[in-house]
Amino acid sequence: MSSPEPQASNMDFSEQTLARFQREIAKYPVEHKASAVMACLAIVQHEQGFVSPEAEEGIAAILGMAPIAVHEVTTFYNMYNQQPVGQFKLNVCTNLPCQLRNGQTALEHVCGRLGVEPYGSTADGVFTVQPSECLGACADAPVMLVNDRQMLSFMDEQRLDELLATLQAHAAAHPVAQHKK
Ligand code: FES
Repeated sequence: MSSPEPQASNMDFSEQTLARFQREIAKYPVEHKASAVMACLAIVQHEQGFVSPEAEEGIAAILGMAPIAVHEVTTFYNMYNQQPVGQFKLNVCTNLPCQLRNGQTALEHVCGRLGVEPYGSTADGVFTVQPSECLGACADAPVMLVNDRQMLSFMDEQRLDELLATLQAHAAAHPVAQHKK
């Protein structure tokens, strides 16, 4: 395993982070090390809670990519956060099939209950609410995703209220100092 290349950015990754990058980079031929970009972005997000422009530049330098190419990956996928998010990131699908079965209503219901605009976070840092593109479960509309991992189906207003109550109770019992996913 070769050592990380010098960085041409002002992002100082820890030795531990660089070692995690290298484990991912080593999975690909040297000339295709850019293939590790999604894994490296996921590592940064796991450690920092979001992917900053400085982190994108640092990853670009390590992988020999243009910073804009890394930014294109970050912005293409909902799972990468471009700013800090709440303890619970709620993505409500508002793509067309869900729209036809109250997807927009579900998003507005969640925003209304939490007093935030789409893409906003609650003042206590517990929730961030975002619209989402198709989550691949259109027949279950309205559909949403919690923290990029848990898919929830048929989210009518009653189920949304039950979900918010459950998550609020969890947040009260398990407060986090830094709001990472
Ligand atoms: S449109 Fe919502 S899951 Fe496909």
